[in-house]
Amino acid sequence: MADQQSEVSATEIAVHWQEEEYYEAPASFVAQANLTDPTVYERFSLENFPNYYREFGEMLDWYKPWDTLLDSTNPPFWRWFVGGELNASYNCIDRHLEKNKNKTALYFVPESEHDPIEAITYQELFVRVNELAAYLRDSIGLRRGDRVTVHMPMVAELAVTMLACARLGVIHSVVFGGFSAQACADRVVDSGSTVLITMDGYWRDGKWLDHKEKADQAAALVHEAGRELEKVLIFERHPGEYRSSFSVVDGRDIVVNDVIGQYKGKRVDPERMKAEDTLFLMYTSGSTGKPKAAQHSTGGYLSYVTAMSKYILDVKPTDVYWCMADIGWITGHSFIVYGPLSLGASSIIYEGVPTYPDAGRPWRLAEQMDINIFHTSPTAIRSLRKVGPDEPAKYNYHFKLMVTVGEPIEPDVWRWYYNVVGKREAAVVDTYWQTENGGFLCSTVPALKPMKPGSAGPGVPGIHPVIYDDEGNEIPPGTGKGGNICIRNPWPGSMLGIWGDPDRYVATYYSRYCKDRNSKDWRDWPYFAGDGAMLAADGYFRILGRIDDVINVAGHRLGTKEIESATLKVSGVAEAAVVAAHDEIKGISPEIFVSLQPGVSPSDELGQQIVDSVVREIGPIARPRKVWLVPDLPKTRSGKIMRRVLASISNDSDVGDVTSLANPEIVEAIREMVQR
Ligand code: WT7
Repeated sequence: MADQQSEVSATEIAVHWQEEEYYEAPASFVAQANLTDPTVYERFSLENFPNYYREFGEMLDWYKPWDTLLDSTNPPFWRWFVGGELNASYNCIDRHLEKNKNKTALYFVPESEHDPIEAITYQELFVRVNELAAYLRDSIGLRRGDRVTVHMPMVAELAVTMLACARLGVIHSVVFGGFSAQACADRVVDSGSTVLITMDGYWRDGKWLDHKEKADQAAALVHEAGRELEKVLIFERHPGEYRSSFSVVDGRDIVVNDVIGQYKGKRVDPERMKAEDTLFLMYTSGSTGKPKAAQHSTGGYLSYVTAMSKYILDVKPTDVYWCMADIGWITGHSFIVYGPLSLGASSIIYEGVPTYPDAGRPWRLAEQMDINIFHTSPTAIRSLRKVGPDEPAKYNYHFKLMVTVGEPIEPDVWRWYYNVVGKREAAVVDTYWQTENGGFLCSTVPALKPMKPGSAGPGVPGIHPVIYDDEGNEIPPGTGKGGNICIRNPWPGSMLGIWGDPDRYVATYYSRYCKDRNSKDWRDWPYFAGDGAMLAADGYFRILGRIDDVINVAGHRLGTKEIESATLKVSGVAEAAVVAAHDEIKGISPEIFVSLQPGVSPSDELGQQIVDSVVREIGPIARPRKVWLVPDLPKTRSGKIMRRVLASISNDSDVGDVTSLANPEIVEAIREMVQR
């Protein structure tokens, strides 16, 4: 089971935490908010489950209404809005045309401030999505149910591609652009894609990154795995200019910009998808070496992200909304593309790094675009505070709402966000959720509940969280004791399953606290999130972090096993253990402890090879902060590596009693090396 040791230490931390003071949302925010009805929590109480979720379904346009709101006859495979038919691209585009065709749907903001910002209206988005869908269908032969892997940077074409797939009922699997060719290839193979959609290159931190190289490498790796990428479709970052130094491979590669003109004026009727048809796959790390794909539905997912965007992010058609996440993560899918567009808002896609060319960039952009909703992660907030603590004050922008997501935010960092970035004019929501969930689990409803720095808040309306101890007893509010956060009820945004691996889905998320595997009652199947959490007397949840072999680096989930297996690929390495080391900016950064094979001596070169291997296998986000080449790893008598002891050393905390280890003397030797 999960690493019990780290859970215990998380509980210990909790005990020392003090309660923070509340902050009220500004009256100006409350006066205009989408959700101000205090009876919402009663309406969404557990006794009204699942009926309250009708309201979410009603936010969408359906070709055919659903017959069954929730089919829970095959737990834990929940099916929402069964019998209903709809199309996500229709809901995000077509339905806004009558009233709002001239309104901006997407703004593409290139990294260079010398390049113009591109405003794409709903009509223009309709045209581009239709033409691309026609091309993908008529030339590439993609059909409903096919999977397509998309490995692209933050550009408008990425959203257009997702929506074109959705129009056809093609399942998109977007891989974060910063991920390696290997990571891309693994996802192509696992999803069974035969088509990869990519871009020649993009701008990042003032530099041109040649991205097509990764497509070539991925194609070779897919071939090695016994599969084939039949087509690689390449968008040009600067249309009309192919800027990659890796040439177009005859018969396999097609530059989309060269051929899309033939589809001018083409329209594609949206496929009538079943509510429970898969809209997309999103890979995420788990406690085994192999990433798994959360499979998200069309009706349940889209209704959930629409409702969350409206009630928690307070998105309105008149808003200009900027989420700084990457579309390659679930946050970008739900809260850059699907949620805001379903509501008819204007959503910003920013290509580059937040601090390019200087620390004032985000606030300058906020002023220029008159952005009023801002969404980012604690890591980005910490780094913006570090490089430009006084920058926000220099720009005349006004946020009504700000969002933080992805990792726990320290109360001190929260206060800087609220006071300095938000100028005390904005409500702040700390949204807790996961790739698997589609949308939020915990957050305050901004006009109804006060903010409390460092706490995500209660379950969002409709979500009923609970904390269980290891024995499955409920930990009541206000005990100061941590435990495992679970959700009592299913919800529409929850994944359909893990692609191709139903057993893993049940084992990872539902077996931990299910008391009766034969039960057909959803009440017997709480969702196990894999996070430690603490419930305060006021019903607010404070998330303590992962209790499994997953680390959360800069808000991105990485499996320690993935990093360890990349390390073990380097010749000379005998064993590797990855630990989560606290990092001033990223929250957590990986450190690797490595023991070498007999006869191999430690060297800087070997350390570098390990770093290179991790970056090559996974991507720069997994780059370890330190690689320690140590004489041996501390182990229990049964041979289990004691990662907890190594983590304590990395974090300068007490290693505790190690006398029962098989090799206690090694702990002191490693400590001397690391804490020197
Ligand atoms: C893990 C999920 C979908 C959000 C982006 C990350 C941690 C997420 C919070 C928060 C404290 C948080 C949890 C969770 N997490 N939001 N507001 N406060 N921790 O998605 O990659 O699936 O990671 O991120 O540990 O399990 P993800």
